[in-house]
Amino acid sequence: MTESSKNEVDDVTGVKTTGHEWDGIRELDNPMPKWWLYTFYASIVWSLAYWVVMPAWPYLSTEGWTYTEGVIGYAQRDVVTREIAAVTQGRAGDMQRIATLAPEEVASDAALMEVALAAGKAAFGDNCAPCHGSGAQGSWGFPNLNDDVWLWGGTLEDIRYTLAHGIRWEADDATRQNVMMAFGRDGILSRREVADVAEFVLALSDQDHDADAATRGAETFGEQCVTCHGADGTGIRELGAPNLTDAVWLYGGDRASIVQSVSNGRSGVMPAWGERLDAGTINALTLYVHSLGGGE
Ligand code: HEC
Ligand code: HEC
Repeated sequence: MTESSKNEVDDVTGVKTTGHEWDGIRELDNPMPKWWLYTFYASIVWSLAYWVVMPAWPYLSTEGWTYTEGVIGYAQRDVVTREIAAVTQGRAGDMQRIATLAPEEVASDAALMEVALAAGKAAFGDNCAPCHGSGAQGSWGFPNLNDDVWLWGGTLEDIRYTLAHGIRWEADDATRQNVMMAFGRDGILSRREVADVAEFVLALSDQDHDADAATRGAETFGEQCVTCHGADGTGIRELGAPNLTDAVWLYGGDRASIVQSVSNGRSGVMPAWGERLDAGTINALTLYVHSLGGGE
């Protein structure tokens, strides 16, 4: 690039040049397009107005660094604080309603139900997952809460009662209570009788069994077991006595597990949550468990 005389005029176009030249090509001094210039001026005006109206410039005051707050006093931090307060207040109001309404009423309000299910899910993870599993799938001795097999019942009221008072939880007077005897350990039945009745339970649940032993066991079953498990062995909910004819087992459905259950009893314990969790959380948990798939 070479500098040539400033005020030279280009022969072809009659426009002044800027004086810049590259390899004989000279730059013409054309003005910027008008639309571009006006946009440029408008942005200058806009930025001046913005500095005045909105928080803009940092400066060092006697109390340290601060910034010009702008005439409307807008602050994003305040906006966030206000929004969080509104959400918290709304949630507290919702939990208040979930606590005072019956679970059925909560279920009939879609928006409230959404809050209840979210709160129930969170509370389940905190309090119930250690025993029932994070997906409520259960494990040995801890029932699966997703299926429609229930020990004590799967209606909203059944579930709420189980949660509030627990099962065989001594500290709660209204706890669900029923204890199967340890038929073998306590000498109510002989080893032979326990073995026979176990064969009958295998027959009830449609598994391989010794037919003669099962026939003897049927008699014992009629004498000792029907009061809780029912004449046909399908269980009695009021007593928390499980159905022995299906394929769902809390403690195992093989011969050895059944003999164990009958010999020693099981007496699973579930804590009462009524004193530990507030009424809103109990109701939210009730709705959550009910929604898992087996709700009645
Ligand atoms: C310490 C372990 C433990 C914890 C924690 C626990 N449970 Fe249980 N839960 C059990 C046991 C054991 C049973 C079965 C008791 C029985 O044999 O009847 C049970 C039974 C139940 C039942 C009755 C199921 C039916 O078939 O009728 C429900 C509902 C239930 N639990 C929900 C919950 C919820 C919700 C929580 C959390 C707030 C929870 N459990 C926490 C141990 C626990
Ligand atoms: C007083 C009521 C009662 C009587 C009587 C009773 N049971 Fe039970 N049984 C229960 C309850 C309640 C359970 C639930 C398990 C627990 O205790 O946590 C149960 C559980 C069982 C189980 C385990 C089921 C599973 O899912 O793992 C078997 C097997 C069983 N009973 C067989 C019998 C047989 C056989 C008899 C008769 C000799 C009998 N029961 C008598 C109340 C009773």
